[in-house]
Amino acid sequence: MGTINETDAGGGRLQGKVALITGGGRGIGRAIAEDFKSEGATVVVADLDEYESGWVATLLGGSFLNLDVRDETQFETVLARIMADHGRLDVLVNNAGISGVGATFDEIIAINLRGVFRGCSLGLPLIAESGGGAIVNIASIAGSHGGFGDGYTASKHAVLGITKEMALRGARRGVRVNAVCPGYIETDLTRVMRSNERALETLLKQVPLGRMARPIEVAKAVTWLASDDASYATGTSLVIDGGWAIDGGWALREANGYLRDKN
Ligand SMILES: NC(=O)c1ccc[n+]([C@@H]2O[C@H](COP(=O)([O-])OP(=O)(O)OC[C@H]3O[C@@H](n4cnc5c(N)ncnc54)[C@H](O)[C@@H]3O)[C@@H](O)[C@H]2O)c1
Repeated sequence: MGTINETDAGGGRLQGKVALITGGGRGIGRAIAEDFKSEGATVVVADLDEYESGWVATLLGGSFLNLDVRDETQFETVLARIMADHGRLDVLVNNAGISGVGATFDEIIAINLRGVFRGCSLGLPLIAESGGGAIVNIASIAGSHGGFGDGYTASKHAVLGITKEMALRGARRGVRVNAVCPGYIETDLTRVMRSNERALETLLKQVPLGRMARPIEVAKAVTWLASDDASYATGTSLVIDGGWAIDGGWALREANGYLRDKN
């Protein structure tokens, strides 16, 4: 693993690194791909959605690989292809996820948790083989608070658990593993919330900074954790939520009517 001084020699903070971003076709994943590219990384976008993601990869001068994170064989194929094409993997961002609206508990767990576990288990040895690097898992404020629905809350709490286990697994092999916990971000995943003016107003009252974030504001935190600037950070999580978690999630329970209904 490099030190802060070593990174100064290159152009960007991810100069010369090969990075895989799952769910990199839109939203937070796309912003991560763009920021990684601007920091000098060779970016591989892997996503279910071939059309939009392929276009994003082309724009970034990177490559697109079709991936459903629920499919172990496909994940192995994606990683094998990266090793064949680039001879290394330095950074993996397990970003692919769903909100869980209209999905069963098992469907949410299959993507949001098992997909992250699969990425970590398969990617960590390859990053170690490449001389060390970093994994960043995209969790959520639902990783520390309830009120987001059984499946989503359980999956994101578990992502923080897996992050710690993988950090131990990678510690003596040069692989740091961390998580980022976004609050409310302007992506397709929050489109429904944003389309209901009243609900949005209630929600934003509870965000101390008074607004949702742009995906790039999350990407910047991911870039830091992925880079050698974060050389002593492992097994931890970085909350990017405009201060939402300060009041312990009171806002969400109130907005959902939980307190009114149950008391
Ligand atoms: N938007 C938010 O407010 C917010 C807040 C906290 C955490 N997150 C997390 O950030 C991550 C990205 O969310 P987003 O808001 O950018 O969502 P998004 O819906 O805009 O993008 C998700 C991307 O993941 C891809 N994807 C979905 N299922 C997949 C699968 N099975 N295999 C491969 N790719 C798949 C989609 O095609 C899409 O490109 C998710 O893990 C989400 O839980 C989002």
